[in-house]
Amino acid sequence: MSRKFFVGGNWKMNGDKKSLGELIQTLNTAKLDANVEVVCGSPAIYLDFVRSKMDAKLGVAAQNCYKVAKGAFTGEISPAMIKDVGVNWVILGHSERRHVFGENDELIGQKTAHALENGLSVIACIGEKLDEREAGITEKVVFAQTKVIADNVKDWSKVVLAYEPVWAIGTGKTASPAQAQEVHDKLRAWVKTNVSEAVANSVRIIYGGSVTGSTCKELASQKDVDGFLVGGASLKAEFVEIIMPTS
Ligand code: G3P
Repeated sequence: MSRKFFVGGNWKMNGDKKSLGELIQTLNTAKLDANVEVVCGSPAIYLDFVRSKMDAKLGVAAQNCYKVAKGAFTGEISPAMIKDVGVNWVILGHSERRHVFGENDELIGQKTAHALENGLSVIACIGEKLDEREAGITEKVVFAQTKVIADNVKDWSKVVLAYEPVWAIGTGKTASPAQAQEVHDKLRAWVKTNVSEAVANSVRIIYGGSVTGSTCKELASQKDVDGFLVGGASLKAEFVEIIMPTS
């Protein structure tokens, strides 16, 4: 089963109309491989702007959404609002949502269900913290996170799993290709056992955590690494190099 390579950019809380407009222009004019799916995660306030400027061949994602359709939830945005500006993806469960803003697995599961029910595709993030890896419970942590997501998914064609070891995010300490492959392989085996062999063979499992132009190629060569979720480097022209790791 060949899985379409997927490269997500997560711009986090960065950029303004000028800088993001320039980045979009770079991406719009870059010679990209049609066999690589590219989706950029924009700050919510710029979603309409980014979607309107970005070539249709490139996807756009929100970086979060709420778990219900409407109501007294100051500051939140709904999947329907995201769809209303032509955006079809949302990043959920990012480690910063979990460990900075205190989102627990239950809330992430509810958000996943609501986003999918309302027509969004989801980049679902999981990953262990350094102390959890050092304690030897990486598998226990990422399997528990994946279970909560899986319990809320009916159509896996709308989901990309992003393994992002927290200790590699923003640290410059990229997981080694072997470390990434080991966890991706175990995640795929978990999906095969707990969802289905067909889903295990088709779901994209992407890696995030200090991916750069110099680390992407060897990571991309790993059997179960189906792409990346890129933070810092996605805000630079270097992102084009990461999108084309096999070139
Ligand atoms: O969602 C991707 C992000 O968490 C990775 O950030 O800067 O380590 O590539 P970075």
